[in-house]
Amino acid sequence: MDKVYITTAIPYVNGNPHIGHAMDYCLADVLARYFQMSGKEVKFQAGTDEHGNKIFQKAKELGVSVEEYTSENTEKFKDFIHKLGVSYTDFIRTTDTEHEKRCQEIWRKLSDHIYLAKYEGYYCTGCERFVTKKEFDENDGVCPDHQKPYEKLEEENYYFRIADFKNKIRKAIIDGEMVILPEFRKKEMLRLLEESPDVSISRPTTQLTWGVPVPDDDTQVMYVWIDALSNYITILGYPEKDISEWWPAVAQFVGKDILRFHAIIWPAMLLGLGLPLPKTVVSHGMILADGQKMSKSIGNVIDPVEVIDKYGLDAFRYYFLRHIDTFSDSDFTWAKFEEAYNNELANDLGNLVQRLATLASKNGIEIEDNNTRNFSGEYKELMEKFQFSKAFDLVWEKVQNLNKRIDEEKPWSLAKNGETEELKECLSNLISDLLSVNYELSPFIPATTEKIFEVFKNPITPPTTPLFPKN
Ligand code: MSP
Repeated sequence: MDKVYITTAIPYVNGNPHIGHAMDYCLADVLARYFQMSGKEVKFQAGTDEHGNKIFQKAKELGVSVEEYTSENTEKFKDFIHKLGVSYTDFIRTTDTEHEKRCQEIWRKLSDHIYLAKYEGYYCTGCERFVTKKEFDENDGVCPDHQKPYEKLEEENYYFRIADFKNKIRKAIIDGEMVILPEFRKKEMLRLLEESPDVSISRPTTQLTWGVPVPDDDTQVMYVWIDALSNYITILGYPEKDISEWWPAVAQFVGKDILRFHAIIWPAMLLGLGLPLPKTVVSHGMILADGQKMSKSIGNVIDPVEVIDKYGLDAFRYYFLRHIDTFSDSDFTWAKFEEAYNNELANDLGNLVQRLATLASKNGIEIEDNNTRNFSGEYKELMEKFQFSKAFDLVWEKVQNLNKRIDEEKPWSLAKNGETEELKECLSNLISDLLSVNYELSPFIPATTEKIFEVFKNPITPPTTPLFPKN
């Protein structure tokens, strides 16, 4: 497997990027960098989801054209992705003409599984999702995520016959042909699959115009999720191009809130197209602020740009990739962030580099480090199982062990006693081990690790300003 394809969920552009959006990007970026360092060629998709009522209504509210609104916000998302240091290779907007044309081709190819019928039920524009009567009753008619009453819909829509694919999807999930992570979500998805009715996949133009037109029927546009999910393959040039060079994706990163679309509708579409299913769908948890869901109305939204501007990108990536668990919901609090910054980044890593570089340079020590670097077996296993926060913990333990070794081996005493040979050996070993650890840190905090490699090039030059200055 020399070529790997990694995807991220494409955010709606009905607002500014927020801290939650960083999760897909950070996780996918670590995997992409890890694979690149392992000699693989990586295609890494990112993009924006621009159709649907949610966006259309927001633009209307602001009194701007929806085209202008989506273009402006897409730029904000692009800036955000760059700010996160994300190594994506391809970017897609669902309003790209090519994408729209390809979606129509996809629709045509699925036509044996599509039928027209009356939809009577509910809809949440916040979720851009049709809601069953059962869910409506369970939630007393109000969407728990958006705190808004569900809208009642009675309209003629096209339906996608999920029933045609249920057996194959179930088997693929159970046999691990399409792995769903974490395990407990896989069970949840198998349950949802059993209950899943055929899904409505269009809206009448009397209700929604901001979407991809259904081919050969100008009274309907596609349901936003059909168009959005297709992005993962239209970006590769499907259907005109043979995409087998990249598809199936090795990993698709999504939040737990949108896993159901990726575990039911998406595989059904792929099976209908005769395409293989993604190898893995990795669903991460939600980032909470002080234990609560972040929301503009509560006023507890954390602005990722503020964190990055104040503490630097790698401090942000460090916290996100180590202290935000990959799979479960986690809290972001300034207090925890600052503690991790000071105790771990500044003390454990920053001081370690400073101490070793200063001792080596003061004593005129040059290192011969011809080691070709490798990832350890345990690290590789964790990375390839997408256990990023655990892999990061493992490396951090090595950072802490190096600090312990310095305290035990006391190179400064060797220097004081004029034990030059011993000092040279002691420092060379420590530095060489630090550089191996640095290599494993690289997918997580790439800018810092690059600086560290620079510091330890002969002649060793201690950083003139601390890697992580304390505030
Ligand atoms: N447009 C759809 C995705 C279509 S993919 C074919 C969508 N957009 S979104 O903007 O609501 O969310 C984009 C991604 O950000 C999703 O993976 C979602 O789970 C993630 N997050 C949004 N808020 C989040 C948190 N507070 N915490 C972690 N991730 C969250 O859904």
